[in-house]
Amino acid sequence: MDYTSPMSRIIAIANQKGGVGKTTTTVNLSAALASMHKRVLLIDLDPQGNATMGCGIDKHQVEAGIFEVLVDAMGVHDASRKSPENGCDVLPANSDLTAAEVELMNMEQREQRLHQALEQVREDYDFILIDCPPSLNILTLNAFVAADSVLVPVQCEYYALEGLSALLETIDGVRESVNPQLAIEGLLRTMYDGRNRLGVEVSTQLVQHFGEQVFRTVVPRNVRLAEAPSHGISIMQYDRTSRGALAYLALAGEILRQLSRAARPEDPASASDKASPQQETAQETAQEPIQEPGQEPVLETEGAADRQPVPGSGTADTAFSDAEHLDVGAPDEAAPTVDTHKGRTPSISEQASVRPDTESADG
Ligand SMILES: Nc1ncnc2c1ncn2[C@@H]1O[C@H](COP(=O)(O)OP(=O)(O)OP(=O)(O)O)[C@@H](O)[C@H]1O
Ligand SMILES: [Mg+2]
Repeated sequence: MDYTSPMSRIIAIANQKGGVGKTTTTVNLSAALASMHKRVLLIDLDPQGNATMGCGIDKHQVEAGIFEVLVDAMGVHDASRKSPENGCDVLPANSDLTAAEVELMNMEQREQRLHQALEQVREDYDFILIDCPPSLNILTLNAFVAADSVLVPVQCEYYALEGLSALLETIDGVRESVNPQLAIEGLLRTMYDGRNRLGVEVSTQLVQHFGEQVFRTVVPRNVRLAEAPSHGISIMQYDRTSRGALAYLALAGEILRQLSRAARPEDPASASDKASPQQETAQETAQEPIQEPGQEPVLETEGAADRQPVPGSGTADTAFSDAEHLDVGAPDEAAPTVDTHKGRTPSISEQASVRPDTESADG
C-alpha cells in the first residue's frame, strides 16, 4: 500500500453549545495543516460567518459561497476562493445562509446536499474542515452526512458536558441511517486554564468519561488566539510561537499520526496516543499549577506562557517539538483508510458534577 498517496479526510467541527472554540479550531487547524503542506478546504457552514472573517474574507462582500453550493448546486471550486494568508481554500458563508435552512427544507435529499457537492472535489484536498453552527439543525446534519468524522471542541468550564449526549446521539443517528462510516475524530479540550481548579476537574472528567476519544492535545486559553481573527489571519501567521499556535500544530500532528496508524493497523506502534484516564489525571494534577480561590489569575505574558505547561501534550516544549517533528520538510503522513474510533461512546450525565469555585482566568 502506498502510504503517501493523497486521500482526503472530511472533518466536521461541531458542538451545538455556543462559544466553545469551533471556529477558532477550524481556522487554526486548517492553517496548521496547510503549513504542513496539506491541501486544505475550509467550509464555513455557520451563518455568523466567523470563520470566513477569520480567514480575511469580508462576509458582507461574499458573492458566492456555501449558500450557492447548497441551494443552487454551484460547484465547490466556483464558490470557493484562496485565503493566501492562511494557505487554504475557503468556501465562505454570509448571513444568507440562514435562508438556506428554510430553502433546504423544501428540497429532496436535503441532508445530502453538501455530501453530493464534496464528492466532486474531495480528491483535490487532503483535509476538508467544516465549521458548524451552534445548533443541531439541517446545516449541521449536512456536515455529518458529508463528513468522515466529527471533532468536538469542549470548553473546560462549568456545563462543559451539557448537551454532549444530544450531540453524540445525533451522530449515532446519522451513523445508523445515512453515514455508517461517521467516526468521532476526537474531543478537544479548549480554553484550558490550568490555574482554574474547575477547568482541571472538567478536563479530568472528560478523560474519565471518554477515555481515548479525548485528544491528548489541549488548547490553552491564549489571548493571541482571540486576537488573531480581528486581523483576518490565523494564529500561524499572527504569532507562530504563541502557545495557541503550538497547540494547534500539535493537534494537527496528533490527527496525522492517528490517521497514519489507522492506515497501518499491523504496526506495533499503533497503540493510540490519546489520553488515558489514569495517565491524564496524573499528568494534569502533577503539572498544572491550580489557582487557589481568591488568588488573582496571572495574566499571560509570552515569557510566562513559555514556562506554563500545556497539559495533555506534556509541556509547551514538547508541543513545540511535536510540531517541529511534523512540520515542513517531514515526509507526508500516510493517508487514512480506516477510522480509528468505531465504538459507541458511553452515555454520560448531562453535565459535570463539579461546581465552579473560581472564575476562569483569561490571558
Ligand atoms: N483557546 C482560546 N483562548 C482564548 N480565547 C479563545 C480560545 N478559543 C476561542 N477563543 C475565543 O472565544 C470566543 C469563542 O470562540 P469561537 O468563536 O471559536 O467559538 P465557537 O464555538 O465557534 O462559537 P459559536 O458557537 O458562536 O460559533 C471567541 O472570541 C474566540 O476568539
Ligand atoms: Mg463559530
